[in-house]
Amino acid sequence: MPILEAYGPTTARGPALRPASPRPLSHAARKFGVLPRPTLEWNAEVERETAPLYGRIKDVVPPVEWPFFAPYVKAINALKKERDAVILAHNYQTPEIYNCVADFVGDSLQLAREATKVNAKVIIQAGVHFMAETAKILNPDKTVLIPDSRAGCSLAEAITADDIRLLRERFPGVPVVSYVNTSAEVKAESDICCTSANALQVVESLGSERVIFLPDEYLAKYVASQTTVKIIAWKGHCEVHERFTGDELRKYRESDPSIQIIAHPECPPDVLAEADYTGSTSGMVQWVRDRRPRRVVMVTECSMADNVKVEAPDVEFVRPCNLCPHMKRITLPKILDSLLNMEEEVVVDPAIAEKARRAVERMIHLKS
Ligand code: 13P
Ligand code: SF4
Repeated sequence: MPILEAYGPTTARGPALRPASPRPLSHAARKFGVLPRPTLEWNAEVERETAPLYGRIKDVVPPVEWPFFAPYVKAINALKKERDAVILAHNYQTPEIYNCVADFVGDSLQLAREATKVNAKVIIQAGVHFMAETAKILNPDKTVLIPDSRAGCSLAEAITADDIRLLRERFPGVPVVSYVNTSAEVKAESDICCTSANALQVVESLGSERVIFLPDEYLAKYVASQTTVKIIAWKGHCEVHERFTGDELRKYRESDPSIQIIAHPECPPDVLAEADYTGSTSGMVQWVRDRRPRRVVMVTECSMADNVKVEAPDVEFVRPCNLCPHMKRITLPKILDSLLNMEEEVVVDPAIAEKARRAVERMIHLKS
């Protein structure tokens, strides 16, 4: 089914996420206290203690970099215990975060599900702001921290709650499905959320002939190509995935006809037309685990190939290297600062969180 209509932004975008500095101490810093900075020395003891962790990533992190990372890894893992904290890390995090300090890793759906099961008092989101907000929405009584609140997302920036209210006026009675890559305010105006892993299932679960699906136009087109439900879309794009082109993928295939191409559904339609598989970040990881291709082009954020390479050293990854500048704001030094200073605390207005929670939980509780 072709896409029905695609609408564009009608209202001004909100201000930058980070408040002007210097900031006052967060509520969490006052509650838990600020801890002194440990010594971050590279010595024989640190080398010995962290050797098993380096063993995991030695194929993707050069030995010359480990003396910088290892003292942070050691300090963060000790502080997590002291703070009763867990780290949720998205598949796009760098290998030293993903493999050496994260407690749970996955795609947006898996991280949202994990966030409902966390027992620790503190959640650190190694990912972007909408993911941290989702964790907070699902855990209103826990402290949720993001190491750099400027880690935004071009999709989340593409739509506001006012835009949804206007769409509802234009299409009365048509249900609104919001990608989780949206702000809490947008989720609060939505009937249900979805991720790239369950978008089709969510759209079809509503039993409606038409669905407003936002803000990713390309994901909307991909869903529309798989269903008879008429999709009313929005013209938001991921600044990382929109840069891939069908032409570059055809060139890879011409140079090696047996190469496999797997792509995230945030890519434009001409890119997905070239793909042997389309799926969420975890769907792509699972595809490589199951198929073990000789050579594969991962048409998504570049760091993910490093993380999959750790599990599948026999596979050759071709990486058109598009990095997400927001995901890359999260680093080991900033995670350490987060744990020491209990910064930056994610706060969601309780009234908005309550409405947003309904949309997120409705998605989580859908039977798979
Ligand atoms: P996934 O849910 O597939 O991990 O996607 C999140 C994202 O931001 C992709 O750009
Ligand atoms: Fe947002 Fe794209 Fe970055 Fe994912 S990769 S967080 S969709 S900007």
